[in-house]
Amino acid sequence: MSSSNITWHEGQVSRVERAQLLNRKPGLTIWFTGLSASGKSTIASALEQHLLHRGVSAYRLDGDNIRFGLNKNLGFSPEDRTENIRRIAEVSKLFADATNIAITSFISPYRSDRASARQLHQEAGIPFVEVFADVPVEVAEQRDPKGLYQKARAGEIKEFTGVSAPYEVPETPEVHVHTDRSTIAQAVEQIVAYLEANNLL
Ligand code: PPS
Repeated sequence: MSSSNITWHEGQVSRVERAQLLNRKPGLTIWFTGLSASGKSTIASALEQHLLHRGVSAYRLDGDNIRFGLNKNLGFSPEDRTENIRRIAEVSKLFADATNIAITSFISPYRSDRASARQLHQEAGIPFVEVFADVPVEVAEQRDPKGLYQKARAGEIKEFTGVSAPYEVPETPEVHVHTDRSTIAQAVEQIVAYLEANNLL
């Protein structure tokens, strides 16, 4: 249920002015998407480290971690995944609005949910960079670092992405990383090159 009788309160300092006052670039969101065990969290974490070492305020929001707190009441039904992504989109937008690089790492399997996240940012004038951590499901399944694919195949986990729940491949991501062919360092380089080429760093 949405709230009524509320009014948006505009602050005194615009997004761009905030960045100027802090001597930074305005923020943005880097939105990773990909199967479980695609490497999205590993690359997101390496990217965060790289940016912080360059003095850029980067902050990572990660699927497993957020589900311990903010989204602990959500499961993996299509509706809950949509709500998961909706909340993350709102939170990443706030981080980016505050002049950070928000890095999100969620499966985010539905195109429409990712499109909504993008739209939310676009409406606020905040750049949204979608990074597809692409790996064939067979490779992800061989990696299976948490043993989840095995459990899903055995029917112990229902609605598991790539096995018994869909993953809708991004059609036009800003960055497409093939995690079965690139090292983590190469993937980070590829993303940083995109950010530099687009004057986002
Ligand atoms: S989603 O689809 O974006 O809402 O998922 P996300 O919040 O990224 O959470 C994915 C992590 O939850 C674990 N897990 C599952 N993933 C997919 N399907 C099912 N049914 C499931 N159950 C638990 C899993 O550890 C995912 O982590 P990653 O890092 O992606 O492997």
